[in-house]
Amino acid sequence: MIVSGSASQSLAAELARVTGQALTPVEFERFPDGELLVTAPVEGDSAVVVASTVSGEAHIELLQLIDAVREQGVSTVTTVLPYMGYARQDASFETGQPISARAVAAAIGNASDRVLVVNPHKPWVCDYFDVPAEPLDAAGRLAEPLPANLEDPVFLAPDANAESIAKTVRDAYGTGETDYFEKTRKSPTEVEIAPSGTEVTDRGIVVVDDIIATGGTMSESIAVLAQRGAGAVYAACIHPVLARNARLKLARAGVERVIGTDTLDRAESVVSVAPVIADAL
Ligand code: R5P
Repeated sequence: MIVSGSASQSLAAELARVTGQALTPVEFERFPDGELLVTAPVEGDSAVVVASTVSGEAHIELLQLIDAVREQGVSTVTTVLPYMGYARQDASFETGQPISARAVAAAIGNASDRVLVVNPHKPWVCDYFDVPAEPLDAAGRLAEPLPANLEDPVFLAPDANAESIAKTVRDAYGTGETDYFEKTRKSPTEVEIAPSGTEVTDRGIVVVDDIIATGGTMSESIAVLAQRGAGAVYAACIHPVLARNARLKLARAGVERVIGTDTLDRAESVVSVAPVIADAL
C-alpha cells in the first residue's frame, strides 16, 4: 500500500496509479496544543510511505505514519523521501553545530527497512541512514515539459555541482550543449554568479538546478544570461521550494517559465517523479 504524508498527496496518488498499489486513506489531525496525529489504516505486511519532509512537523508526521503501519503488523516499510528536508545541512559547518542531515536520517532509518531519496543535494547523504538507502535521479523528467523547438539550446547549471543533472536533462531532451557557471554564496539569500564563456545570444537556455529555494541562485543566473543577450530562459528544478519571494525574483529576472517536479506540491510542479520511484520500488 502507498501511505502518503500530507505534503506528498499528489505524488502518492500518482505513484499508486503508476504502480497499481492501493492508496491508504490517511487522516491528518491536530490537537488543540498543536500536536499532530495521523490515522493510516493499512492491510498487508508491506507499505511504501511517501513523505516530503518539508518542515519539522512533516518529519514528526513521517515517524507517526511509519509507527502507525508497524502498529498494524506491517513488517517491511520502504520510506520514500521525495524531498528530504535538512539534507543540505550535511556537515557541521561551525563548532557547536549538528550534522542535521545525519540526525534526521538516524530517526527515519531507525524506523524504516529501506529508504529512497529523490535527488538529495549530495547523493552521499544516503550514507547517513543505517538501512539500505539510495538516491534516485529524476532530472530526466524535467525535459518533458520543455518546448520541442528551443533555439540552439544550452542546458546550464548555476554551479559545477549541478552540471550532472543539467547533462541528464539535456540527454533526455535529446540535443543541446551543456555548461556551468561559477557560484559564490555570500549569504543564505545572496549569491554571486560568474558567467562561462559559452555564447548565449538568442539561444534557448534551460538553467537546471536541484533546488530553487529562495530563488537567489536561479534569478542571478537568469539576470546574467539576460545581460548577455540570451533568448528564452527556462528555470528547471527537481525541488521547487520557492520560499519567500522567489517567484517575484524569478519573474523580475525575466524567466520564461519555471518547471519543477511534484516532490513538492507547487503550481510549478508540472511533471511527476512517480515513474522514477516506481522503477526503484
Ligand atoms: C546549492 O548548491 C543548490 O544546488 C541550490 O543552488 C541552492 O540550494 C538554491 O538555493 P537558493 O534558491 O536559495 O539560491
